[in-house]
Amino acid sequence: MSFELTSIESADKAGFYAELTSQARGLLHGEHDRIANAANLAALAWHALPAINWCGFYFFDGRELVVGPFQGKPACVRIALGRGVCGTAASTRETQLVDDVYAFEGHIACDAASRSEIVVPLVLNDQLLGVWDVDSPQPGRFDEEDRKGMIALCQVFVESLRVDEPRTGEAA
Ligand code: SME
Repeated sequence: MSFELTSIESADKAGFYAELTSQARGLLHGEHDRIANAANLAALAWHALPAINWCGFYFFDGRELVVGPFQGKPACVRIALGRGVCGTAASTRETQLVDDVYAFEGHIACDAASRSEIVVPLVLNDQLLGVWDVDSPQPGRFDEEDRKGMIALCQVFVESLRVDEPRTGEAA
């Protein structure tokens, strides 16, 4: 299988995320392996998203979050539920959009260059799979459009893991 990494030309963020999500769907199509799809999605996002210094996955091992496939500098390996931005997204199951990581109590600084962050919880069949985390060296890098776009992107990943049910948009 080969995948053409094409640059995204959309001028507006909604269009950008629509294109990115569509590329992700193509990239993950037909594959259900969690590590493979997480690795490819992290690579796709890393090359597409401007002004980021880390993007990747933490997976829930039944007790805490453990770092998974990512792009960027080496990161802290284990994060307890409820700790930092990732642990908060995991325990609340709500996307965390942090304009200024230094103002977020308990933020875990894996890379001192990070200034803002977005973390999306990954849930399948009501089970917590982990989180998708993106960091930026720019304060306030992520807005509501990024929140919507990242959630749509994560949905492609979560749906790709279903092995015994038809995918969204596919005929049964
Ligand atoms: N900043 C995160 C930790 C993970 S790194 O950013 C890769 C947090 O506070 O949970």
